[in-house]
Amino acid sequence: MIIQPTNHLKGEITVPGDKSISHRAVMLGAIAQGKTEIDGFLMGEDCLNTIKCFHKLGIQIDVSKDKVLVFGKGLHGLSCPVDILYTGNSGTTTRLMLGLLAGQHFSSILDGDSSIRKRPMDRVINPLKTMGADISGTQASTLCPLTLNGSALKGITYHLPIASAQVKSALLLAGLYAEGETHLIEPAKSRDHSERMLTHFGADIYTSGLDIHCMPYPKLEAQKITVPGDISSAAYFMVAGLMLPHSEITIRNIGMNPTRTGIVDVLNAMGAKMALSNQRLINNEEVADITVTTSSLHGTIIEGDIIPRLIDEIPIIAVAAAAACGTTVIKDAAELKVKESNRIQTVVTELKKAGIDIEETSDGMIINGGNAFKSACFESYNDHRIAMSMSIAALCANGPSKINGADAVNISFPRYFKLLQDLQK
Ligand code: S3P
Repeated sequence: MIIQPTNHLKGEITVPGDKSISHRAVMLGAIAQGKTEIDGFLMGEDCLNTIKCFHKLGIQIDVSKDKVLVFGKGLHGLSCPVDILYTGNSGTTTRLMLGLLAGQHFSSILDGDSSIRKRPMDRVINPLKTMGADISGTQASTLCPLTLNGSALKGITYHLPIASAQVKSALLLAGLYAEGETHLIEPAKSRDHSERMLTHFGADIYTSGLDIHCMPYPKLEAQKITVPGDISSAAYFMVAGLMLPHSEITIRNIGMNPTRTGIVDVLNAMGAKMALSNQRLINNEEVADITVTTSSLHGTIIEGDIIPRLIDEIPIIAVAAAAACGTTVIKDAAELKVKESNRIQTVVTELKKAGIDIEETSDGMIINGGNAFKSACFESYNDHRIAMSMSIAALCANGPSKINGADAVNISFPRYFKLLQDLQK
């Protein structure tokens, strides 16, 4: 993909549905009784892989333009798959499925692409084993491919060592099939879509601060779900609209769940001209329109409890920080090392190619902003968020840039480059 620089981005857009919510809507729809109708579903590779896994588990799921119908068979309606459940590049599918499958009455095998095979699964497997799960795999049972022999589970009290919504959600799904209460305590609040959607489907779940209590064997009822736009996808356009001169972009219908809006807080702290409008609640999730206008940004410090609220946005925040005056320090973000790529390393390497003064630290990065972006040949490392972040850096460069492996955007945002072009007309 060749990206030409531009001096403006203008217009009104919508972005695809929220990835986290799309995965969960299919999963809960499959184990609820009746027909769940999902509007605004993200037709990206990750979420389509979740659908394929449930096809193999005997669930009928019909997919049309942007609607998905899930014919749920209830909590005990999944059937033994005859094939490996392939999760592609999706950490959310892999980890949540581990939780959901651990307590079934059949065995199954989970596997994904080369990136998934490197991502740590012990963070989910260890507490699941304490619940009674029987899971084995390569590298001392920490990596995919993984074999699960469905077994009887018991609820546990578990202090999560990291703020991870994937770990939390896997344990909550396992908890639906476990004897007694599952009680989780998070070190900091991670995205809470599972808790909200479980409540919506009728589960017996109660949250108080960082504590979550979930009771087993609920009668889940099919729902009509409208998935809001993904703030993680909107983030590229938010930052582009702020960085580029002569720009104003309105992004409609964005999920504004407070566990996801760290990027809004950070960009505001950096001096962004940004307005929220049309704020509303849909399916227990906050939604709004966001308008961004060209702004002079300045550096900031990003650390502590805000990190899980913007973990997926750090690559694009690094691009904003490179354009900002002064220094931005990002700390407490060692989790970036185990995402689709090692995002501390990949962001620093790629932004250095654009002439940015950026340095890797053990748990984040330091960016001395304000230097002009140079055109470069960027790599995506098959990481969708690196491809999109570098495309925004490329828009600000002094000549055409190239992105190798740009089709990684199909993981979460198939229309991405088309939309970027539309805003330049
Ligand atoms: C997700 C949780 C986060 C996030 C990922 C999606 C989810 O991962 O980075 O893109 O849908 O639960 P962790 O739980 O590993 O932090």
